[in-house]
Amino acid sequence: MCGIIGYIGSKKASPILISGLLRLEYRGYDSAGIATVEKNGLSVMKDKGRVKNLYNLEGIDDLEGTIGIAHTRWATHGKPSKENSHPHLDNSKNFAVVHNGIIENYSDLKGFLEKNGYTFYSQTDTEVIPNLIHYYYTKDKNNDKDRILRAVQHTCKDLKGSYAIQVISKYMPDNMIVVRKDSPLVIGKGDGECYISSDIPAILSFTRDFYLLNDNEFAVLSRDKVEFYDIDLNKINKNVKNIEWSASSADKNGFEDYMLKEIHEQPTAIRETIGSRLPENEPCNFDDLNFTKEFLTSINKIYIVACGTAMHAGLSGKIAIEKLCKIPVTVDIASEFRYRDPIIDKNTLCIFISQSGETADTIAALKLSKSKGATTLAVSNVIGSSITREADYSIYTHAGPEIAVASTKAYTSQIVLLSLLAIYFAEILETTSVFELKDLKKELLELPNKIENALKSSKRIQEFAKNIYQEKDVFFLGRGVDYNTALEASLKLKEISYIHSEAYAAGELKHGPIALIENGITVISIITDPKLVEKTISNIQEVITRGAKTLVITNQELPANNFDTIITVPDVNVLLSPVLSIIPLQLLSYYISKEKGLDVDKPRNLAKSVTVE
Ligand code: F6R
Repeated sequence: MCGIIGYIGSKKASPILISGLLRLEYRGYDSAGIATVEKNGLSVMKDKGRVKNLYNLEGIDDLEGTIGIAHTRWATHGKPSKENSHPHLDNSKNFAVVHNGIIENYSDLKGFLEKNGYTFYSQTDTEVIPNLIHYYYTKDKNNDKDRILRAVQHTCKDLKGSYAIQVISKYMPDNMIVVRKDSPLVIGKGDGECYISSDIPAILSFTRDFYLLNDNEFAVLSRDKVEFYDIDLNKINKNVKNIEWSASSADKNGFEDYMLKEIHEQPTAIRETIGSRLPENEPCNFDDLNFTKEFLTSINKIYIVACGTAMHAGLSGKIAIEKLCKIPVTVDIASEFRYRDPIIDKNTLCIFISQSGETADTIAALKLSKSKGATTLAVSNVIGSSITREADYSIYTHAGPEIAVASTKAYTSQIVLLSLLAIYFAEILETTSVFELKDLKKELLELPNKIENALKSSKRIQEFAKNIYQEKDVFFLGRGVDYNTALEASLKLKEISYIHSEAYAAGELKHGPIALIENGITVISIITDPKLVEKTISNIQEVITRGAKTLVITNQELPANNFDTIITVPDVNVLLSPVLSIIPLQLLSYYISKEKGLDVDKPRNLAKSVTVE
């Protein structure tokens, strides 16, 4: 889950590469480097640490090359160090490569190359790639213009695993080759220039026109054209796709951090995600699906599969689909699902949620479900992402680029999209009364304004954060939909504030975890389901008796004076309340992280899209 950037054109490549890397730093940030084609051969500059360190490297300003590749790393094989940083050179120093992904058979390939006289200078899996290219290049006696392309093709046929690779060479001063398999890579087309990136936002300020590369496709880039080839090097045609995101939507827009900006963008993200799906006095509109009653009636089981926050959104989706459509739904963690031999057949619908659309375990789970005959549906925020290209059907959240590692606006948009999906199914299946669905639709349309209101708790939350930022353990409690919110709030707190926290179904507390409650510990509860208010209050009472400090997030009338702090969020249909109740809790993690002086957008050990298993 590293980030890669490339440039070929008539401008100096190095400043473009570094600015692209800065935008991609959320994908990994333990080392960075660039390689350019200079008059006298290849130049490679790289180091351990953040991208901005590249500005200090001696000679970086003297680079003149107009073709270059660049990389920001999230270490998998080999610790963060200069040697392990990308780009990597072959032994002859004539081929430079950056790579995102994992080469699973790299030690076999390394052994093979060592037997053939190659030496390795890093502990990375990547270093086999430039050396294999060199190996096949020297073996090929046909010195025509496609010699390097053939060497890259042979190399890729040897590689097992995932990769997005960029190759430049001294022998190819006017071209660059890129290829991908199970790892993201897009090509931006400008006027007399091309940009390559792991994702679209990093190069949106340069172009809106993109080519999306599929698995096992190669592109040979020149300044004014891009040629595409399949794995057997047959030429293929591709159309440019125009991307509508504005470059400014990928910037901080005056906010201190991307996370804070993205928290505040939730009203817009929800509005855009609802888009034209709720036409007045008409059924919910999913043009991209067009499912029939016959098809939906044949579905007797739904799996929702995802990782992390996306999986938590799936938990809310389950409650909505089961309630409105009366189809049993199982929510699964992708990395568990794929190894469990799940019971799937042609009457199973499998829904995969992935903001990035590039999460390796979720993609693998999708491939497994497809192979077992299920209908697959991807829910993603990134048009053209890998998961959407694998799935039978795709629907999109329109949250705009999410840059902060901690997911916020994608999460709430996913819940909204799943609720819309449940309404769409229920209307076709006629499993819920039209009046109930009408009310729910109305509530969905009111959500953006209610989020604006929920955001007004910001000041009080900031104060509360000041009181608890030094805590070592925090507990979250909830029942039903509120338990799902507790899980997500706990994950947010862990990942950006580094505070240990646990989320429990409130009724489960006395079956063990209550032993951990002691004087002064903070317990945060969520109460939004009118049916469960009293039950949850009884559970909170149990922790108050044992000395806990309590914060309650609620949209219900609660008995006064019972709790230390109450934050009220707007009232809404319980199926949608996770969208509102998570807002103060996202803010809480954010302000605790700030109070502790941490890097909110780039928490330690984490990267934005997890393209390794
Ligand atoms: C947490 C977070 C992660 C992601 C997970 C799946 O804030 O962002 O838990 O939700 O890595 O990522 P996607 O949705 O891109 O598949």
